[in-house]
Parts: sequence; structure tokens; C-alpha cells
Amino acid sequence: MIKKCLFPVAGYGTRFLPATKSMPKEMLPIVNKPLVQYGVEEAIEANLCEIALVTGRGKRAIADHFDTAYELEHQIAGTSKEKYLSSIRNVLDKGTFAMTRQREMKGLGHAILTGEVLIGNEPFGVILSDDLCINDGGEGVMAQMVRLFRQFRCSIVAVQEVPADQIEKYGVIAGESLKDGLYRVDNMVEKPKADEAPSNLAIIGRYILTPDIFDILRDTQPGKNGEIQITDALLTQAREGCVMAYKFQGRRFDCGSVDGFVEATNFVYENIYQPE
Ligand code: G1P
Repeated sequence: MIKKCLFPVAGYGTRFLPATKSMPKEMLPIVNKPLVQYGVEEAIEANLCEIALVTGRGKRAIADHFDTAYELEHQIAGTSKEKYLSSIRNVLDKGTFAMTRQREMKGLGHAILTGEVLIGNEPFGVILSDDLCINDGGEGVMAQMVRLFRQFRCSIVAVQEVPADQIEKYGVIAGESLKDGLYRVDNMVEKPKADEAPSNLAIIGRYILTPDIFDILRDTQPGKNGEIQITDALLTQAREGCVMAYKFQGRRFDCGSVDGFVEATNFVYENIYQPE
């Protein structure tokens, strides 16, 4: 079964400058928890406890976050403040964390290929922590996808309907509807113009990939914006075999944009955050 989840976290986060000048964008907090921790908690909830981080320069804070902070632990052990560490302690108890560095930014497909050394020859999840997915009270998105994978044994992408004026920000799929919310993909385009989009179903940053994707990525030429796109590799996989798209249960916040980040903050503060 799937045990590993890959987190591409090497991106610069230019939209949040100057906040991200020396701090990784994945460490920006939604209320009291860094974005990347929400993603890791979603992976662990789905039983993907071997976390593989594709990092880059200036991302050490992420590695430190997923390690014991000895001085801090020592200082607040036995005090009333200990409760603030409970969520990260829980993550550290359940997960293992491996890292490799992406030396050049050549696109999401390239980042995923860089993670091959941590994944090996087995199916794995991918979470883009910019996309914060919350299924309040229900099963997380990655857990929903793992359930589908057990049935179909092929790569799966999460999708969501988006308005026409937003479509050019996403990878977009087209496919045959198999049952409610599940499609067999027959076309995929990275960031099309609204009038060239094959549908209104946009890919959200959750994937389950079978390991043949690595060989396909090695042969994938740079596409949109001169980058190696996972969308292009998945189209090859769909044509040669099978890729499914799944309209997930839950809501998603685009925390790569300031508006989405603020929206997520308000939602978490009002609905999830528990002041202790
Ligand atoms: C990436 C993918 C795109 C996908 C999006 C989801 O784009 O390339 O296909 O729709 O993530 O967030 P990015 O947002 O990194 O430009």
C-alpha cells in the first residue's frame, strides 16, 4: 500500500515577499500552525507516514520544524505551555521525515522527479501545501484518494470546478465521467487560456502517482513557462495507461495567493482553531 507522501517545498513564495525573504513560504502560519504542517497532518491521517520533502536553499526552518527542538522542549516541559506543542509532537511521533534538495527550479515535474531518490519504486502521494484542503469533520482529501487508489491502482489527481476567469491558473483535465465525481482522464492541459480549456475541472495540489511517472518525467520536455510539468507527464500516463480525476469532498483554499491565505486564516480561526 501507499506509505510515502512527497512535499515539493522548494518554491520561492515571491507573492508573499518580503515575508518570505528569509522564511520559507510553507512556514507561514494559518493562525497558529505553519501551512506545511496542515499538509503533513493530512498525509498522516491517510496513513502516509513517511514524509519526503523536496526542499531547496533557504528552507532549513522546515527541516527544523519536523525535528525535536530540544531547548524549547526542556524549557516548557511540565509547564502549562506544553499543550501548545501537542499537535507537532503528534506529527513527530507518527511520521518520519526525509529530505532532498532541488538545486534548480525547473518546475513541479522536475521537483517530483528530484524526489525519486526518497520514493523509490512504489506508489506515493503528493501534497502541494499551498493548497490547504479542509473537510471539516470528515475524511481528509488524501485519505479519500487513498481509498480510491485501492480500487483503481492508477495515478489519481484531485480536481475542483473553477470559474472560467480562474482556469488559466491551473492544470485542467477532460475525461469520461465514470460515476459521480470520478473521471477517467483523456486530456490534460497546463494553464490553458479560458477559451482553450478542455473543461472547468482544475487540478488541485493532491496527487497519487504510480512510480512509472518517474521514467515518463525523465522523457518529458519543458512545457508551459519552460518548466517540466507534472500535468504533461500525467497526460502521457493517461494515454499509455490510466489516470483518474477525483472531485474531492471538502473545501480548498489557495494559500499561494494573498486572498486565499486570508480566507483560509479566517476560516480556520472561526471553525477549527481552539484557543487553549
Ligand atoms: C501547480 C500545477 C497545476 C495545478 C496547481 C494546483 O501549479 O502545475 O497543474 O493546477 O499546482 O495548485 P502552480 O500553482 O504551482 O503554478
